[in-house]
Formats: sequence, C-alpha cells, structure tokens
Amino acid sequence: MPSPFRPDLFAGKVAFVAGGTSGINLGIAARFAELGAKVAILGRNPEKAQAAADGIGALALTADVRDFAATRAAMERVRNELGPMDFVVSGAAGNFLAPVLGMSANAFKAVVDIDLIGTFNVFRGCHDLLNLPGASLIAITAGQAVNAMALQAHACAAKAGINQLVRVLALEWGPEVRVNGISPGPIAGTEGMARLAPDASTQDKHFARIAAKRWGEIGEIAEAAVWLCSDAAAYVTGTIIDVDGGSQVGDASRVDLMKGLA
Ligand code: COA
Repeated sequence: MPSPFRPDLFAGKVAFVAGGTSGINLGIAARFAELGAKVAILGRNPEKAQAAADGIGALALTADVRDFAATRAAMERVRNELGPMDFVVSGAAGNFLAPVLGMSANAFKAVVDIDLIGTFNVFRGCHDLLNLPGASLIAITAGQAVNAMALQAHACAAKAGINQLVRVLALEWGPEVRVNGISPGPIAGTEGMARLAPDASTQDKHFARIAAKRWGEIGEIAEAAVWLCSDAAAYVTGTIIDVDGGSQVGDASRVDLMKGLA
C-alpha cells in the first residue's frame, strides 16, 4: 500500500507509545520511526521491550501502565533523553473472553486497570512533558466501547471509559493538545484477534459480517495514527476514528440475504 505521507514527515518529532512492544502499537511506533521521529516504546517485559525497540531503532522503557509513578518516570526519561513529546499513544490493553459469571471482581478490575486506568495514567502523566502547542495524543480503543459484546463486559466498560476520557481531555487541553482515539477492527496478526477469534471458523464468520470483507492490517492502523498526528488533522480533536472495515456500521452478511428478496 503506497503511503501518501512524505518520508521525513516526523523528522525532529518525539513519540512515546505505551504498549508499543507488539501488534498495533509496535506497528504505529515503527511507522513513526520510519517517518523520522525519535521513538520510545513502553512495555511490561524488559526483554520483550528491548527486542522490539532494537528492531525499530527506538528507546526501550519498562513499566506497567497500572502503576502511575512508574509510567510517569518512564515518560520523564523520554523527555530527558529524546526531548519533549510531540505524540503520545496509549495502547496497552488486556483481554480475555469470559462471561460476567465466569469473571471475578479482580478479573474485571485487571482489564479496566490496564485499559482505562492505564490510559488515564499515560495521559495524566504526560501533560507537562509535552511539546506545546501542537501535541497529539491517541488512545487505542475498540468497537466494544459502543457495541455491547457478550464475554467482553470488562473490555466494553473500559473502552467506553476511554472514549469519554478522550472527549473530556480534548475539551480540557485544547487548543494546545489534540486528543483522539483510534478504534481498530479485526486486525491480522495481533494478540487481540488471536484471543477473540482463535480459530479459522470464528474468523471466517466475523469476516463475512464486515463491509470490507477482509482483515485489516497493522499498517492501516499506523497510517491513521500518522494522519492524526500530522498537520492535516490540525482541526481534529475529541474524535474516535473507526479504522475497522465498517465493523460497526452493521452486519454486512445480511446484504446477500436481502438481495434474495429484492
Ligand atoms: N477468564 C476468567 N478470568 C480470568 C481469565 C479468563 N480467561 N484470565 C485471567 N483471569 C482472571 C484471573 O483469574 C485473575 O482473577 P483472580 O485473582 O480472581 O483469580 C484476574 O483475571 C487477573 O489475572 P492475572 O493473570 O493475575 O492478571 P495479569 O495482570 O497478570 O494479566 C490479563 C492481565 C488477565 C488481562 C492478561 O490477559 C494479560 O496480561 N493480557 C495482556 C495481553 C493481552 O491481553 N493482549 C490483548 C489485548 S486486546
């Protein structure tokens, strides 16, 4: 897929990606680095973070986003070693399939803590470390924020909270900071899809229901993040961008059913 963005778009910029050691977040970090940004990625596991950072020429940081002080300390390192941050991506997430009655209070809390409290910690902790005006913050959310999904009570609650946090911060921190979310659909090669659609039959059923009729690619989420951080999106804040092949529009598998009736 040819990119419309010029290769030095982010030269001189500093980006921090929480959860950037794998999947969508690593894809965003890699793309920002490719476009010339100095990038730092944060993960829970030091070896994994270092290996991922080495692969894209980034600074590796270790902290659990549930720990405000550790997350803040990591971002202070970014400011001290790379400079004030232009772009902050909060993408650390946890998930598993379980009905509410199969979920302890601690299980529910674990996902809310990583996703929602983690995003609060990253955003709350970064503000005075940003390069202002003009900083761009992105939260990685999901369709569960809007559409209730069985076996996903924890993620639905957490992602709905993230969407509202994005909107509130856009109000409170504009115009110096823009705050947006990206809501990815089913993206190939991610841990999230491996957990939520583990076998080919589940994947095919899901695939039939979405307008794009295919999985998304990590690179397609990264391009949306680049656009949100570019000057082309200077008037975009408080918005959740669905990059999901039409997943939330409705059930595309019904089109064939309805055609038979037309
Ligand atoms: N069904 C029900 N409960 C589950 C579960 C499952 N599949 N997996 C974990 N839990 C429960 C645990 O039993 C525990 O509850 P308990 O203390 O009452 O027994 C609670 O969730 C926390 O689990 P724990 O493993 O201690 O937490 P953790 O902080 O190490 O891990 C998770 C957090 C559970 C979210 C884990 O899945 C994770 O680390 N995920 C990160 C990666 C990921 O999910 N990526 C995909 C993002 S879309």
